Amino acid sequence: MAGDQRASDYAASFGKYRSQTTETTAALIRAVLRYVPSSRGARVIDIGCGTGRYALQLASATEAQVFATDLSREMVEQGRERDNGEDVSWVLSDACRTPFADQSFDVALLFLVLHVVKDSKMGLEEAYRILRPGGYCLILTHSHFQLDRQTLFRLFPEARKLNKRRMLSLTNLKERAREMGFHHLRTEEFVEAATYSREAFLEKVRSRPNTSLRSMSDADFQRRYEALEAAVAGQETCTEESFSTLLVAHK
Ligand SMILES: C[S@@+](CC[C@H](N)C(=O)[O-])C[C@H]1O[C@@H](n2cnc3c(N)ncnc32)[C@H](O)[C@@H]1O
Repeated sequence: MAGDQRASDYAASFGKYRSQTTETTAALIRAVLRYVPSSRGARVIDIGCGTGRYALQLASATEAQVFATDLSREMVEQGRERDNGEDVSWVLSDACRTPFADQSFDVALLFLVLHVVKDSKMGLEEAYRILRPGGYCLILTHSHFQLDRQTLFRLFPEARKLNKRRMLSLTNLKERAREMGFHHLRTEEFVEAATYSREAFLEKVRSRPNTSLRSMSDADFQRRYEALEAAVAGQETCTEESFSTLLVAHK
């Protein structure tokens, strides 16, 4: 499949499964709002925004000026299409090199993005650069323990292995943030259980809704998928559990 087609398939699958407001999205928004200044003129950036589920909700919940950036043209376009007057500024840009001035944001979100950029250290440095002193960097990630517990990664261990290689452990991530100058690090955990009809769950899995499932070989994916299909054959519903950690770092 050509690269453009793959990118647009991923954006479509992402838009379908990760644009909805789930309990965890709502809880994360509440957590983020604790760090957004209530003053007019506050600036928030969602780096690697995907189709903008967080940026759009933050823009409707605050007076802040919200920027949303992503390297994928398809993701940014979908976000822009979903923007019905929230007035998010959509920007196509690499997380490691954004077009923004030093110290120009109060809050920077890096939600499930550091593991997909070329160099996570550069991505974190860039967030540090554009944050004002006293600003907050909010990093959403999965600890390695959480990766072991995610439903999708239990079903597809090859994808879990890949993510463990790409995602810094929480200890290493905190160490890197401290080395960079961030301080007062704290974490909060989020758990979500979503129940689907069996067919809807299988359809979601078939869409390979994350980059690690997409990186598995087709043969490995098919083998695991067939085992899953056989295992859930008699069930009416399937429940998918996912676990994530928000790391809050103060500049
Ligand atoms: C797992 S998704 C997370 C999206 C969003 N933050 C969320 O949590 O819903 C990762 C996103 O990072 C984007 N991405 C990958 N490499 C990037 C880079 N170098 N700079 C900016 N965004 C990037 C992808 O296009 C994708 O939208």
